[in-house]
Formats: sequence, structure tokens, C-alpha cells
Amino acid sequence: MYQDFAYYYDTLMKNVDYSKWTDHVEEIFRRNGKQPKTVVDLACGTGGVTNILAARGYQVTGIDISEDMLFVAGEKARKSGLTVSYVCQDMTELTLHRPVDAIICMCDGFNYILEDKKIERTMQRIFRYLNPGGILVFDISTYYKLSSVLGDNTMADNDKEISFIWLNNFDKKTRILEMNLTFFKKENGMYRRSDETHFQRAYYNEEIVTLLEECGFSDIKTYSANDLRPPGKRNHRVFFSAAT
Ligand SMILES: C[S@@+](CC[C@H](N)C(=O)[O-])C[C@H]1O[C@@H](n2cnc3c(N)ncnc32)[C@H](O)[C@@H]1O
Repeated sequence: MYQDFAYYYDTLMKNVDYSKWTDHVEEIFRRNGKQPKTVVDLACGTGGVTNILAARGYQVTGIDISEDMLFVAGEKARKSGLTVSYVCQDMTELTLHRPVDAIICMCDGFNYILEDKKIERTMQRIFRYLNPGGILVFDISTYYKLSSVLGDNTMADNDKEISFIWLNNFDKKTRILEMNLTFFKKENGMYRRSDETHFQRAYYNEEIVTLLEECGFSDIKTYSANDLRPPGKRNHRVFFSAAT
């Protein structure tokens, strides 16, 4: 996962407004009366949100399991003169030197956790590494999106520099979406093909809320990712916040 794709990720995400996404995170901090100084960004990828938070004055650590994604994130931070600590770690085994004020996880990070035991363990560890009065903010791609929008569909983008074909298969029993991605990257007048398979699990909002409660979180809230209003049945992405 996220090997060759790491180097195409930003191109394929060019329409994602990471500033707006970061605004949402800060708005959720504000609505919950939090002014965190130290933030850990789990599954930070190429640092889309991480680097913006650093530029806005937060002391940020980005954690990801993919060395390639972290390499891209680190290079972007270096070129922008930002100080961000990037760490290669599996978030299901999260280990920090000291607790922080806020932990965030954006753009499907938790959907990549496929087993109940592992997501439970991840939330427990997050709870342990948040300071009292701390906040967890994250989004998930909804059950509706994974099962019915991406579902058993095929997507493709025929771009001159990077084209891709994206074949999906959703298993209702396991609630796991298998995404077979094929990229064609233009190199020296030819196209280089690479393939990756990604798996994401669909979670119901209610089960995430129950899990957070069981881990000791309080003041658990959900928001539509578009406008931070209460989410509806057909939202593709939902934000959550939970306090320690
Ligand atoms: C869709 S990308 C999101 C990246 C970034 N948060 C963003 O907003 O663009 C998902 C990221 O989750 C990371 N990831 C998946 N499973 C992980 C795990 N167990 N621990 C840490 N990172 C993980 C992947 O390597 C990838 O960078």
C-alpha cells in the first residue's frame, strides 16, 4: 500500500482543499473550547493537513505506516521551511514519548483498520496518549460511500501525465472494500504501469460512537464533512470529535 501511489497521491488529490479541511479541524477545536498546542496527525500521508497545521503554529507530529508517503510529506515540509516531526509507525500500535493535546486522523485513516480488535486497541491507545482535556478529531468515509458509491464500481481518469483505473469490490459480510488500483505514469515518452491493492472497512457512525464511549471518551460529536452540520444518511464523509 502507498508505495508508487505515494508519489502520485498529491496529483490525484489536487482537487482536495486541504486548507478548508484544516479550517474544519480548527473550527471543531474552537466549538469544543480547545486550544491545543501539540497535535499528532495519524495516517498523515503526504502531510496535506499536517504541514498546514505546522504553518499555523501548532507543534505537529505526523505518523504514517508508509515510508514513501512520509518521504513526500517530509520533503514538502523541508521545502516550505516547516518544522514537523514525521514518524513511521503503525497507528494500531501507537506509541508516543509524551501525551499531546490533540490527535487527528484525516481522509479515511481509520477505514484502513480492518479488524474490531485493532480499531479498539487504536482508540484505547489514543485515549492513553491524550492529555486530560484533550481532543480527538477524525473523519471516516461512511458505510454509504464505501458500500454504495464506491461499492462494486469502476472508476478511471484518463489524464496525460497519470491515468488510473480503480476496480472496487465490496464484501457485505466483512464490510471490506477491496480497491484494485492501476496507474499509468508518463515517463520518457512511455507509460509505466504500477498496481496496488487497498482495503478499507466500512463502519457505522453509531458503532464508532459506542467504541469511543467504551474507551472512556466523552462529549462525542459527529459532523457532516461538508459544512460541519449534523450528518445525514447520504453523507460520504463524517467528522467525529471526542474529548478526554
Ligand atoms: C487516504 S491516505 C490519507 C492521508 C492523509 N491523512 C490525507 O489527508 O491526505 C491514508 C493514509 O493512511 C495510512 N495508513 C493506513 N494504515 C495505517 C496504519 N495502520 N498506521 C498508520 N498509517 C496508516 C496510509 O499509509 C496512508 O498514508
